[in-house]
Amino acid sequence: MTIGPEGCLDLVGHHVEGWAWLPAKPDRRLRVEILFDDPPIRVEVLADRHRPDLEAAGKGDGRHGFAVPLPASLIGREPVVNVCLPDFPNARLRGTPRRAILALGFVTLRTIRPLGTDLDRLRDFLAGMVRLNGGCADTAVPGMRDLQVWLAGGGDRCWLVAERGSRIVGHCRIGPGWPAQATSRALTLGIELHPDVHGFGLGRQLMLAAHRWASGRCARLELATLPHNARALALYRGLGYVDLGTAALPETGEIHRRMAIGLAAPCGSAWNAKRGITLVG
Ligand SMILES: CC(C)(COP(=O)(O)OP(=O)(O)OC[C@H]1O[C@@H](n2cnc3c(N)ncnc32)[C@H](O)[C@@H]1OP(=O)(O)O)[C@@H](O)C(=O)NCCC(=O)NCCS
Repeated sequence: MTIGPEGCLDLVGHHVEGWAWLPAKPDRRLRVEILFDDPPIRVEVLADRHRPDLEAAGKGDGRHGFAVPLPASLIGREPVVNVCLPDFPNARLRGTPRRAILALGFVTLRTIRPLGTDLDRLRDFLAGMVRLNGGCADTAVPGMRDLQVWLAGGGDRCWLVAERGSRIVGHCRIGPGWPAQATSRALTLGIELHPDVHGFGLGRQLMLAAHRWASGRCARLELATLPHNARALALYRGLGYVDLGTAALPETGEIHRRMAIGLAAPCGSAWNAKRGITLVG
């Protein structure tokens, strides 16, 4: 069986960074085409930069990275960025397409409404995230009915979304389920932001909003994260989550770090106006 090229668009900001290689020919350096819209600009580069993380992950000698600056004429225009491999027209890099957001601006945090249009938008966001990560949205995204049933399940659950303009850019779900034990007074939290808005502190604000919702509703929040997810671990530790050891994901057995934070009584509404983040609904 021939294994095609593999790669990922890691970062889109002042620079566009990623990697691409052909596992069957690890010494080959692949041509990469970066396409910006608004107005269309095309940049071609060779994926030949050494990246220690690629080498450590067994991607040949690790010389498969690429990085190009965002064209000066596009700064502030938030262009869509796509990456293609001219020698493999059918290949698609994980993490594509993306939007080059350099300043977050105003974001609204709110609870999802159990209405068709709102749930459709949430499902579209979740499907986009699955596709971005190379998965199949048809099987991985909960159906409308499942979402409605989950939301109607009781006062022990809440689904928050972060909206930038009319676009959902992140979500955070709190409710019963693994890794919290059914007999404990704990609920479980899960969070995911679109990579376009990583690194602006939005994860922290969404978590704090979730804590405010959960205060008075449960004694503590639990979560599980992959041990190599350094950004998530930094976020959780910075918020005061403590390590409870390891836990295996029931479906796959994959080892996660289990963490928890104790919650005080409801803590008011000191929203972060400085960052332009408000919670409504
Ligand atoms: C994890 C996630 C919610 C974090 O949100 P975020 O807004 O991007 O967080 P930030 O970029 O502001 O970074 C949070 C912390 O991690 C640190 N950090 C950022 N990048 C890092 C990296 N590559 N390695 C280590 N720490 C990093 C930041 O300095 C910050 O710490 P600080 O608050 O002490 O300054 C978000 O990146 C995300 O959705 N990731 C994909 C999905 C995911 O991993 N979900 C969690 C599953 S358990």
